[in-house]
Amino acid sequence: MGWSKRRLGEASELFVAFAASAGGPVLDVGAGYGAACLAALQAGATRVIANDLDERHLETLDARFEKKIGRFPREIEFEDGSLAAIHAANVLHFLTPRQLTGGLRKIERWLRPGGKLFVQAASPYQSVWGAFPEEYLRRVEAGSAFPGVMEKVSDYVTHRMRGEMPRSIHLLDDVILRREAEAAGLVVERAWLYRWCGLPRELHLDGRETVGLIARKIHSEAR
Ligand SMILES: C[S@@+](CC[C@H](N)C(=O)[O-])C[C@H]1O[C@@H](n2cnc3c(N)ncnc32)[C@H](O)[C@@H]1O
Repeated sequence: MGWSKRRLGEASELFVAFAASAGGPVLDVGAGYGAACLAALQAGATRVIANDLDERHLETLDARFEKKIGRFPREIEFEDGSLAAIHAANVLHFLTPRQLTGGLRKIERWLRPGGKLFVQAASPYQSVWGAFPEEYLRRVEAGSAFPGVMEKVSDYVTHRMRGEMPRSIHLLDDVILRREAEAAGLVVERAWLYRWCGLPRELHLDGRETVGLIARKIHSEAR
């Protein structure tokens, strides 16, 4: 399920700044060791909920945090309109297209009007993916709906840490994330590619290694 870094990426920093004055509960999906949860709390967020499918990852977080153990999106639920912000960093690329679509719909339901989603995920443009960027562009040109699905990571990755990667992965870009967030009913404020400062140097390609998304839930009467 990847690695965790203390250094937050651009999208996560923006989540922390928003959470600080959101005045309501904020959720971190796939929180890992909770770097973004901690930063949000320190910045002034009043209620921080950490989710992860593995409860051992959340053991570093003390009683100031609420914990919600379970696999997103299937195993966790929140009341409709109850969350002020949702953050998902370095986790949505572990979801299948169907889980991603369903997960974004749940996120749209859980957010209160004006609430925001902040995403950081892996793009196809990392040197670790070998020849996949070319395959990705071929799939885009051929009209593939989810061109970033790498069924067998071992077909492309030769990195020494390959054994610690999942069998398959779903790489995302700004176009796909924007389309899926909009299909779920969210208003996209920003979708962009960037280099996350925590990304190991050996994965660098051309500055587009990471995808970020910020999207807002609109008031239902504004639809
Ligand atoms: C690469 S780590 C990222 C952790 C943290 N968000 C960060 O950016 O440092 C991915 C985390 O997501 C968790 N995870 C993976 N798939 C998940 C899912 N479907 N639902 C909830 N947690 C998940 C893993 O257990 C792991 O802790």
